[in-house]
Amino acid sequence: MKKPVNVVITGAAGNIAYSAIFRVASGQMLGNDQPVNLKLIDIEPAMNALKGVMYELEDCAFPLLNSITTTYDLNQGFEECDYALLIGAKPRMKGMERKDLLKDNGKIFKPQGQAINNVANKNVKILVVGNPANTNALIAMHNAPSIDPKQFTSMMRLDHDRSIAQIANKYETNINEVKKVIVWGNHSNTQVPDLSYTEVSGKNIKEIINDPWYTNDFIPRIQNRGAEIIEARGLSSAASAANAAITHMRDWAQGSNDWLSIGQISNGNSYGISENLMFSFPSLCSNGSYERIADVNMSDVLNDYIKITEQELIQERDSVLDLL
Ligand code: NAD
Ligand code: LMR
Repeated sequence: MKKPVNVVITGAAGNIAYSAIFRVASGQMLGNDQPVNLKLIDIEPAMNALKGVMYELEDCAFPLLNSITTTYDLNQGFEECDYALLIGAKPRMKGMERKDLLKDNGKIFKPQGQAINNVANKNVKILVVGNPANTNALIAMHNAPSIDPKQFTSMMRLDHDRSIAQIANKYETNINEVKKVIVWGNHSNTQVPDLSYTEVSGKNIKEIINDPWYTNDFIPRIQNRGAEIIEARGLSSAASAANAAITHMRDWAQGSNDWLSIGQISNGNSYGISENLMFSFPSLCSNGSYERIADVNMSDVLNDYIKITEQELIQERDSVLDLL
């Protein structure tokens, strides 16, 4: 058996966490031979509910679950953290955009970044899920100067997987047949799902970009899928978000042979995107790290879309300069 690793989940008494925690404890994120110490963080008023989650975890008798800590103390929670899923934050309601949450949620990520800086392991892998995820990740990163900025990522995997599912549907094929999808930019309604390199059953489908289906149906569907779920469910996505968080971290830790979309610091990118943004780029994961794919030719059709999502991220960043 390997030595246990410390996995922090914030917002641990919330909806997404309830779909994620048990899967992490069962080995679906870090592998069937990797024991975990689960460190569950929420705010003080949620401690009783969190105790209930802990009881249920105990009752599952997961062989890989080495220990469980529940706390609202960030320094206790993040101590020697190896993996962090930063989920805890308000979800939006019908009619809101995710960036409308920045005023309330942005301030959550400053003290979390500081605690990560002070007490987490230096090679910690961090995924920000709480919305608006990209700018919250930027806030956490800026408050953790002793951690490599690359260790901070924001979740675009749900958008990536939504794209794969829609394409598999259109081509009436299995999910496994769809490869090399890209989602650029912000996890918002400006994100840019790009099929220029996408392959279905090994065949490139880039001609679909000139089909009205791509701009009139596909792009808006993916951009607005979160809102579509809120409209139908009355609540934001939870199980699919938890699934995306687990697979993002799983592939980062264990590798993947397909392209992935990862919100990451834009510094040094080859696409002319401004520096100091958490921007989603196509990436590959292997040996416990991810690398941005540097040589994608961005289709002209997408230039204006990319500028809009970049501009939105700049505006979001400029509205939280006091937190950086
Ligand atoms: P929820 O309201 O069910 O749970 C949020 C939890 O966070 C609550 O238990 C709350 O007490 C806790 N919390 C609040 N402030 C906290 C703090 N400072 N520290 C620790 N915990 C804190 O919400 P949810 O449905 O689980 O969604 C959580 C967040 O994830 C929302 O912001 C939502 O918009 C976002 N989300 C992101 C994606 C994505 O793709 N990036 C997908 C779905 C949802
Ligand atoms: C989603 O994409 O489902 C989440 O970001 C939740 C939301 O507010 O749309």
